[in-house]
This record gives sequence, structure tokens and C-alpha cells, in this order.
Amino acid sequence: MTSPTTSATAASEEPLPGVFIFGISGRVGRLLASRLRTRGMTVSGLTRSSQQAAALQADGVTTVSGELALATTQEIASMVSGFDVVVFTAGSNAGHPDVTDAIDDAALARVSEALSGTQTRLILLSVLPEAWRERSLSDEEEHYFAVKKRAEVALTREPIDWVILRPSLLTDDPGRGTVALGPAELHDEITRDDVAAVLEALVLEPTISRRILELNEGPTAVTEAVGRVARSYQA
Ligand SMILES: NC(=O)c1ccc[n+]([C@@H]2O[C@H](COP(=O)([O-])OP(=O)(O)OC[C@H]3O[C@@H](n4cnc5c(N)ncnc54)[C@H](OP(=O)(O)O)[C@@H]3O)[C@@H](O)[C@H]2O)c1
Repeated sequence: MTSPTTSATAASEEPLPGVFIFGISGRVGRLLASRLRTRGMTVSGLTRSSQQAAALQADGVTTVSGELALATTQEIASMVSGFDVVVFTAGSNAGHPDVTDAIDDAALARVSEALSGTQTRLILLSVLPEAWRERSLSDEEEHYFAVKKRAEVALTREPIDWVILRPSLLTDDPGRGTVALGPAELHDEITRDDVAAVLEALVLEPTISRRILELNEGPTAVTEAVGRVARSYQA
């Protein structure tokens, strides 16, 4: 599924990818959907409330109604059929362990299984594994970080086109438009808006594949930061 090229990508001959977002009702998911829609891209996502669906549809996003925790691999394959990129921003955010297991682990595994044998890219918003090491973590947080790491390991072993993005602590401050992005970055803070901007740039950079990238606040413009990563793999 592709959209006609818009003026934002007038220099490109490539049609814009269609994007399906798991977690589209969340804070990063909403910001990403809005950015992609502004580019004229086809955007869809899974929601579990009619109010969320109505708000997204008002922004030109199509929605599928359902429970990610319960969706089978076949149902997920049907939801994402025809889309070029799947972005997974859903998760417990270190909340209840049952949700961490059901969404951050099991649902992600079914999404990656659903993409097996397709050309569809999967971009996962994960977490820096050493986040908050300086703190005394709760049992739920320790469980969360362990599950996120295991889920990453499982995804990297799937024969699909994946990218894992590990941001540092998310804030709701206004985006800066600049970041630090690479195979290893320090853990500090990053705005959700800047995370959404990096996800948008990754959606538009299909040469970045099967890579883990860490993301922190930093001095490099988002498009340049993603471009540097893409060029580093071409050497
Ligand atoms: N918080 C941080 O500092 C931090 C740091 C690094 C990475 N991250 C990662 O970034 C991701 C996105 O963050 P965010 O701020 O956008 O999170 P958010 O606003 O809490 O959004 C989470 C999304 O996950 C969905 N979700 C949660 N529980 C679910 C369930 N049981 N069934 C189905 N969907 C469920 C939510 O759907 P509903 O709207 O239907 O609830 C929502 O779409 C997190 O999942 C986390 O893994 C967070």
C-alpha cells in the first residue's frame, strides 16, 4: 500500500509507504500518526475504544477495532496486509506485569510472526536496557526491562525486516528537532515528539534494516542523524 508522492518528498521517485501502528492511541503513536498524515501518507492502527478511533479518524487515520492482547497471528496478518511498514509503540510502560507479558512480549511476537514471509518492515519502539540502573527499581520495572530485552532478542532472530529503536526516558516537553542516534547512546531524556520524528525518518529510510539504534537527546538534526546511520551501513 503506497500513497502518491507529496511535495515533502518531491525529490524522491519512490511512492510513500503505507504505515500501520500498534499503539496508535498512545502518546508516541498519536504524534507519529499525525506526522505521517501531514506528509500525506496512508496511516492506520489498532484501537480498543470508539473515542480513540473517532479522534484518529478525524485526523485522516483509518482504524481497526480490537484487543491486541487477544488478536491471533492470523488476525494481525489480516490487519497489516498491504502495509509497507508496521510500527510497534504499544506497551505497558513498565506497568502491570500481565500487560508487559501480553503486549510487550507476546503480542510483539505475534506481530513479527504475522510478518514472516512478507516484505513489510517492522519498527519496534523498545527501551534502553540500562535505563534507570542508578535507581532502585520496583519489581514491575525489573520485570519490564527483562521482558523488553527478551522480546528484542526474539525479534532479532526472526527472518523479517526489523529495526529496534531504544529511546531514553520519554518526556512531553516540546520537541527540539535534534537528537543523538547510533548503536550506543547514553541514557538521559528524549521528548516524545523527537522520538516520533525519528520514527518518521526511519519509516522513510528503508535501507536501515535489522539494526538496533539507541536514541537520546543530542545535537544532530533528526534527518541528518538518520541519514548518517543509513550512510554508515553503505560503507
Ligand atoms: N515511558 C518511558 O519513559 C519510556 C522510555 C523508553 C521507552 N518507552 C516505550 O515507549 C512506548 C510508547 O510510549 P508512550 O508514551 O507512547 O506510551 P503510552 O502513551 O502509554 O501508550 C501505550 C500504548 O500501548 C497500548 N496498550 C497499553 N496496554 C495495552 C493493552 N493491555 N492492550 C492493548 N494496547 C495496550 C495503549 O493503548 P490504549 O490507549 O488502548 O491503552 C497505547 O496505545 C512504551 O510502550 C515503552 O515501551 C517508554
